[in-house]
Amino acid sequence: MALPGHVRIVEVGPRDGLQNESAMVATAAKIELVDRLSATGLQTVEATSFVSPKWVPQLADAAEVFAGIHRRDGVAYPVLVPNLQGYERARAVGAEEVAVFTAASEAFNRRNTNAGIDESLERFAPVLERAQADGVKVRGYVSTVLGCPYQGEVPLADVVRVARALHAMGCYEVSLGDTIGVGTPAKARAMLRAVAADVPMPALAIHFHDTYGQALANVLACLDDGVTVVDAAVSGTGGCPYAKGASGNLATEDLVYMLHGLGVATGVDLDALVDTGAWLSGILGRDTGSRVTRARAG
Ligand code: HMG
Ligand code: MG
Repeated sequence: MALPGHVRIVEVGPRDGLQNESAMVATAAKIELVDRLSATGLQTVEATSFVSPKWVPQLADAAEVFAGIHRRDGVAYPVLVPNLQGYERARAVGAEEVAVFTAASEAFNRRNTNAGIDESLERFAPVLERAQADGVKVRGYVSTVLGCPYQGEVPLADVVRVARALHAMGCYEVSLGDTIGVGTPAKARAMLRAVAADVPMPALAIHFHDTYGQALANVLACLDDGVTVVDAAVSGTGGCPYAKGASGNLATEDLVYMLHGLGVATGVDLDALVDTGAWLSGILGRDTGSRVTRARAG
């Protein structure tokens, strides 16, 4: 099988992981989480989310978190923004990279952002414009690429259309999200291939939730097709509060273990990552969602 020499991991635990936690996590713990993660060698750590605090109360302290983290040289700290208001809040505390998000399914996008897909793309236009003028990088997410909790099947053509639109607007990278983790390897690969016919592979990332235990297998299938950027969340945290049935992301520890076992470099210190995952599960008061961290704890 064809494997890349290096994979860049986009750690989404402080955002995707924490947004799904109902019990409030202290601001200081969120800051410590980001700082611990950036110390492991991860190049990209999505730090928080400037969405409406009414929609995601857990991340209402986004400005305090972002202002409190230690920004290491060479590490990117994207933050999620749903609109210009979020962009302005992020910029006020010095964010240099943001991520916008929409979906391939109309029904999910309405529940998640109170807007249709095209309406959300229209909302991003001024964000992209401002970002370009400010020299801010913009990442784009497409959710529900392999299934929707409300609509069911999602046509590939819809995934391709939305990914192409985000890339054409100026997103340097488009992350393809299996929000509810229903995909299997051949489907994941076919989806990636279809998008890569329109958006260059180096501008694509994959984002698998592990609801049905398929995330690592999906990643492996997609690596063989040439993708080199993979999203994951430490300790397997994560999920979207507006996606019924969604559970954790692929655990970063498990991804790193597999990649290193395959001889694919990540630049990440697995021991430090496992320590961080174990520490986080202590903070959240429950077992880790990472098989590797569980194995190492014994
Ligand atoms: P809305 O209620 O339609 O917004 O929400 P609005 O523009 O009508 O404003 C309503 C109120 O919200 C106003 O306040 C605004 O000021 C405020 P009021 O006047 O009532 O006091 N507001 C904001 N406040 C702070 N920051 C902002 C902001 N925007 C408006 N940025 C909106 C529309 C998009 C804002 C809302 O639906 C929202 O925030 N949704 C986010 C939901 C979310 O975070 N979901 C999880 C992230 S996506 C995900 O997890 C998937 C992903 O991981 C990939 C995958 O797995 O597939 C990325
Ligand atoms: Mg997600």
